[in-house]
Amino acid sequence: MLILAALLAATPPAPAPLLPLPREVRWGEGRLRLDSTATATTSAFHDGRLGRGIARTLAHLEQRIAVPLADSAGRGAGGTLVVTVASVGQRVQGPDEDESYTLDVTPAGARLTAPAVVGALRGLATLEQLLLADSAGFYLPAVHIEDAPRFPWRGVLIDAGRHFVPPEVIRRTLEGMAAVKLNVLHWHLSEDQGFRVESKRFPKLHQLGSDGQYYTQQELRDLVAYAADRGIRVVPEFDMPGHSTSWFVGYPEHASAPGPYAIERRFGVFPPAFDPTRESTYLFLEQFITEMTGLFPDRYWHIGGDEVMGKQWNENPRIIEYKRAHGFRTNEALQAHFNQRLSKILARHGRRMVGWDEILHEGIPAGTVVQSWRGTEYLGRAARQGLDGILSAPWYLDHIRTAEDHYLADPLPAGSTLTPDEAKHVLGGEACMWAEHVNPETIDSRLWPRLGAVAERLWSPQDVRDVADLYRRLGPLSLQLERLGLTHEGHTARLLRRLTGQRESPVLERLLEYAAPVSFGERSRIQQTTQLTPLTRLVDAARPDPWARVALRARAAELVASDFRDQAALHDLRATFARWTAFPAEVEALLPTTPLAADGLPAARALADLGRLAQEVIDWRTGAVVAPDGWQAATHARLDELNKPQGLLRLAGIDAVRTLVGPRSPSP
Ligand code: ACM
Repeated sequence: MLILAALLAATPPAPAPLLPLPREVRWGEGRLRLDSTATATTSAFHDGRLGRGIARTLAHLEQRIAVPLADSAGRGAGGTLVVTVASVGQRVQGPDEDESYTLDVTPAGARLTAPAVVGALRGLATLEQLLLADSAGFYLPAVHIEDAPRFPWRGVLIDAGRHFVPPEVIRRTLEGMAAVKLNVLHWHLSEDQGFRVESKRFPKLHQLGSDGQYYTQQELRDLVAYAADRGIRVVPEFDMPGHSTSWFVGYPEHASAPGPYAIERRFGVFPPAFDPTRESTYLFLEQFITEMTGLFPDRYWHIGGDEVMGKQWNENPRIIEYKRAHGFRTNEALQAHFNQRLSKILARHGRRMVGWDEILHEGIPAGTVVQSWRGTEYLGRAARQGLDGILSAPWYLDHIRTAEDHYLADPLPAGSTLTPDEAKHVLGGEACMWAEHVNPETIDSRLWPRLGAVAERLWSPQDVRDVADLYRRLGPLSLQLERLGLTHEGHTARLLRRLTGQRESPVLERLLEYAAPVSFGERSRIQQTTQLTPLTRLVDAARPDPWARVALRARAAELVASDFRDQAALHDLRATFARWTAFPAEVEALLPTTPLAADGLPAARALADLGRLAQEVIDWRTGAVVAPDGWQAATHARLDELNKPQGLLRLAGIDAVRTLVGPRSPSP
């Protein structure tokens, strides 16, 4: 007992909420005070990128401690922070760049060492998360950190095709990515609904394919440089041969059926596809790629390759004849031929091809990287064939799952059957932010803070999997991201102001504490969204993973753990459930002035039902009321019903009530 007490006493109080967790952290004794005298120096290698990185960190610290710092990023031996970097690192950062660093904080100073500048940037990101405060001011806790990523490819896909994502949104996304050590922006730049890049060689691409919403070449150069400054690679995706309608608005001659074409407004999978049988197609693509490689220095290039419908190929007599003449029995074989041609073009420009897992076909060119999206199995399949792969299937942020769902997925889960050599082909993964249901106003709320969970999965050791600890650290991360310019924290209140025309919308605010958007598929089906659908409804204001869901579930777990005797928990839960029963009348009262509040009625009524049910469960489990026979199975069945879409919302309070009911009994 005494030993245990001593151990507990030695545990440092509330260590800083680092996210992603470093590989090795040893908390020490003491505090490094930070005030206006704090300085930073580099003691070895120095370049502009390192200097700017240090200056950014100092600026962020300065904002926190709210006094100007004396100096920034000087060179020399001393300083509060001394950064010692051995080399510039790779000229064009690749997945094999060394991102490791060591960070030591003692009351006398902080020492950051790294083999390459990118590692120092990662260490600076950690240092910013170490800042804590007490009554005497701000400090960094003493600590020794040795860190390096588990996976070299840690990315997020941003779909700028379906809704344009303006440069300032990309910039703030890059800030957030750097904070959680993500290192790849996979930029989906062309879609049926929009072609988003200025082409000087083929100007009708952006002039006719984008509604005037595209990145100029100068903007692209600036954003690529902005990313590189933060140790983030930019992998462009120009999706082909399908998902390509917007190309053909200006250049219908490269499609497999005669035009004319118009920008697609609906979402889904559509017939237009490049004609893979004509030399003119490859000449066009080679000229286009030649122009674009001048803008995107990364050694990887994403060709898309997903969801090719085949309709245009099946209906074009010349393509049918071409397939017969070349012995291509299927459209997959024809697409493989197209990919082989593309791969050769890319190789001539020093680029490796990346594609969605449909390209994992016979004759896939060696060196191709396969992005597993239809399921996790393609990752293993690629690895067994000796192909590098990245995982995305569990990380579709647009599907509106919880942070914990995303967190517990793993590219190489414990028990993976890949050999160590095969496992080396698993480069990492990317979260995907497809843009059917996001625009510049809402995208931050769909990316953050859930993207932090994916970032930790890809950076931190495999056994870092404690969900409660993840949520404990996601809270502070979310506020850090807001300080960096991301807009997710204020999102719900801002969207509700837009929706109601009122400064305060307390009823809807409270409703959205316990109601999340339905999934991507449900929303598509129920609302029949198109590119022209305004994204200004209650579903857009809702948070994908409301904080209250986990908090309420934790409270319910405490009550269960106390055998329903914890009076404080009992009181809190009863009060919350009772409040839910008032929602229908409260939402109805809004309707005369706020017609869009009607979107909340199904969820309001379902929450009221859930609240009544939860109070019954408490009565039964405390013994206040005798429980009817079979109540647990019946209650789980009612919860399954309440868990269905309620309009465009889904209740976030179900988990807590399930916790109170207890596990389902196994079916007889
Ligand atoms: C995809 O989601 N179509 C790659």
